[in-house]
Amino acid sequence: MVAVKYTLDDFVHEMNDLLVSQPNQEKIFDKGSDALSRLIANPDAIPERFRQPVGAGGRANHGSWLLHHSPDSGLLVTAVVWGQGDHAAPHDHRTWGMIGVMDNALTETRFRRVDDRQKEDWARLERDRSAVVKPGEITLLIPEVDEIHQMDNFTDRPTVEIHVYGQDLRGLERVRYNLETGAVRQMMTEKFDNC
Ligand SMILES: [Fe+2]
Repeated sequence: MVAVKYTLDDFVHEMNDLLVSQPNQEKIFDKGSDALSRLIANPDAIPERFRQPVGAGGRANHGSWLLHHSPDSGLLVTAVVWGQGDHAAPHDHRTWGMIGVMDNALTETRFRRVDDRQKEDWARLERDRSAVVKPGEITLLIPEVDEIHQMDNFTDRPTVEIHVYGQDLRGLERVRYNLETGAVRQMMTEKFDNC
């Protein structure tokens, strides 16, 4: 008998069943991580075209692909592909998130904001930790607590991740940080061109 593999639909149903029960954040991460683990264990669950960089335009070496959005629950699922040398400067998220590596590896660096937040356009970040995240591993984004990260692909081939958020990132007011100058730049995306 051939084992039935876990699909994107299975994941979406499981997450929406979970979210409709209005769980606390701990339960979202607990049950959600289990579900995401099953999804990232099966790369075939995601069409191959969504597991590649976009290949053209200003950021040809990167891919951010919308896989699913449930307007009722807010659930947003994307595939994010980091080509060789790809980089994202430190930024926040303003919603809970789970990131699972499906193929290859990525270096994720987390930061703490340590200024008094009195200035709108300036911040001081301290590096908290850095880790190479590998296939099957999941990292969590916790709003206000632990949600500022930088991403780098220091390997020689693309890395595929599945990103899961509690809210549509489009139209969400977020910020990007400049580590050298301390400048804080507002960002609001209209499409899935970031993470
Ligand atoms: Fe991010």
